[in-house]
Amino acid sequence: MPSLILRLVLIAAVIVGLCQLPTNASRKRPTALVTPISYDPRSTNYSVEIGQRTPLRVLQLLLDIEQDYMWVRCYNNTYKSSTYRPVDCSTKLCKSYEYSACYTCFGPRAPACNNHSCSVPEPGVQLGQDVAEILSSDGRKSGLPVRFPRLPFACAEDKDPSDLLPGVDGVAGMSSSTLALPAQLSAAGGFSRKFAMCLPQENSEGYLFFGDGPNVFSPLKGGAPTDVSRNLIRTPLIRNPIYSSDSTHASTHGFYIGVQGIKVNGVDVPIDAEKLRINTRGRGGTKLSTVARYTQLATPIYNSLVALYTQMAAEMNIKRVTLVDPFPPLGQDVCFDATGTGQPPFVGSTAPGPNVPTIDLVLEGNATWSILGANSMERLYRENALCLAFVDAGEDPVASIVMGTYQMQENFIQFDLVTSTLGLSSHLFSLPQPTSCGNFNLTTSL
Ligand SMILES: *[C@@H]1O[C@H](CO)[C@@H](O)[C@H](O)[C@H]1NC(C)=O
Ligand SMILES: *[C@@H]1O[C@H](CO)[C@@H](O)[C@H](O)[C@H]1NC(C)=O
Ligand SMILES: *[C@@H]1O[C@H](CO)[C@@H](O)[C@H](O)[C@H]1NC(C)=O
Ligand SMILES: *[C@@H]1O[C@H](CO)[C@@H](O)[C@H](O)[C@H]1NC(C)=O
Ligand SMILES: *[C@@H]1O[C@H](CO)[C@@H](O)[C@H](O)[C@H]1NC(C)=O
Repeated sequence: MPSLILRLVLIAAVIVGLCQLPTNASRKRPTALVTPISYDPRSTNYSVEIGQRTPLRVLQLLLDIEQDYMWVRCYNNTYKSSTYRPVDCSTKLCKSYEYSACYTCFGPRAPACNNHSCSVPEPGVQLGQDVAEILSSDGRKSGLPVRFPRLPFACAEDKDPSDLLPGVDGVAGMSSSTLALPAQLSAAGGFSRKFAMCLPQENSEGYLFFGDGPNVFSPLKGGAPTDVSRNLIRTPLIRNPIYSSDSTHASTHGFYIGVQGIKVNGVDVPIDAEKLRINTRGRGGTKLSTVARYTQLATPIYNSLVALYTQMAAEMNIKRVTLVDPFPPLGQDVCFDATGTGQPPFVGSTAPGPNVPTIDLVLEGNATWSILGANSMERLYRENALCLAFVDAGEDPVASIVMGTYQMQENFIQFDLVTSTLGLSSHLFSLPQPTSCGNFNLTTSL
């Protein structure tokens, strides 16, 4: 009898043990990471937080979806860490990036000065690896930091720090390159090669997620939390294979989407379809940018949009006005009298923002990106005016359309690099359960 009891106890112990194994394993392996996004009104750029070095420092990095790698300033021995190591140029990591080279440095040895080390083009100098930390997430809230013992980044002898925001330590490169954060965090931590961003509006916070959803946000008013990663509209992400020397970003790993037409209140804006395609010289098409504030349109597209928009506004009894004091960031102002278009904060409205004509981008894959008033109009309170938040980019810009952050804020945008698909939920205020980019539960910190 005692032996039977012993056996039963042993079997029970084995069963309990087996049941606990996967639970413990899944606790050790979060499926997503999260970092807060802040907006700097002075530079109109966004930054995210990443912990790095030994001892750990929390860095503010400019969020840039067109940069091929994370980079931080290393000038004048400002980089101090006991765990830094340069990357040799014979490594697989170095060779995985098509623009890398072998470096010889004649200065005194420093993080950015080593021999036979992997170098990447401007603005980076040498590739290094160091400890990094980012908060984990279960999709509903943040959790403990995840430690990456050797996250690659470029250590830059920054020649011109003035081209960066003050207070920013470097750049979080988020392109589709092998060295960018989505690929490197995926390789090091097993996260899906996916990221999603919810850019906040002014005076608010947003979040950047790496890996799989859900992405659950609390409602603005009462009601249940919403997984904003469900019911996304989807369109292919396109790569522009040709490097244009006059582009501001020296990369072919940025994100383009196939805009096939633009409509205002359902009416087609007359556009030369050739301009919407990337041509054999790598020009044309529609690029996404996190460092352009207002969407930039090639002159012929801009002029067509403004003409139709003004006509559609007139049909809604919205009068075009000339500002006494023009709004400089927009240059050539296209402004309207705000009277009768509703008052902020527009929360919970099905047409968030002022009630103005809707601009629809018709996307490849039969999807529509609807740009409602909150994302199409900049409000100038002093003048009681609304100004069209699009700018004229000149006759022959590299991309015919550069989607800027004003059009993306309070939208949830997912970049799935495995399937090369963009997923989008346009303005979160207009969801059945209205929410906002700031409504994610950040309960931990680095
Ligand atoms: C935003 O960041 C980009 C990329 O570094 C930079 O070129 C641009 O000057 C910044 N914007 C402003 C207004 O400082
Ligand atoms: C680095 O140090 C030199 C000499 O002390 C100084 O002239 C230079 O301005 C410093 N560079 C930066 C980017 O601070
Ligand atoms: C790199 O090698 C060159 C000679 O090829 C030498 O002059 C230089 O001091 C070395 N640099 C470092 C950082 O060791
Ligand atoms: C966030 O926290 C609040 C307060 O604890 C809670 O009511 C809400 O449901 C949480 N939101 C999510 C998405 O879990
Ligand atoms: C595109 O979407 C519209 C509306 O959702 C639908 O009526 C139409 O059949 C779709 N076209 C194709 C080619 O899928």
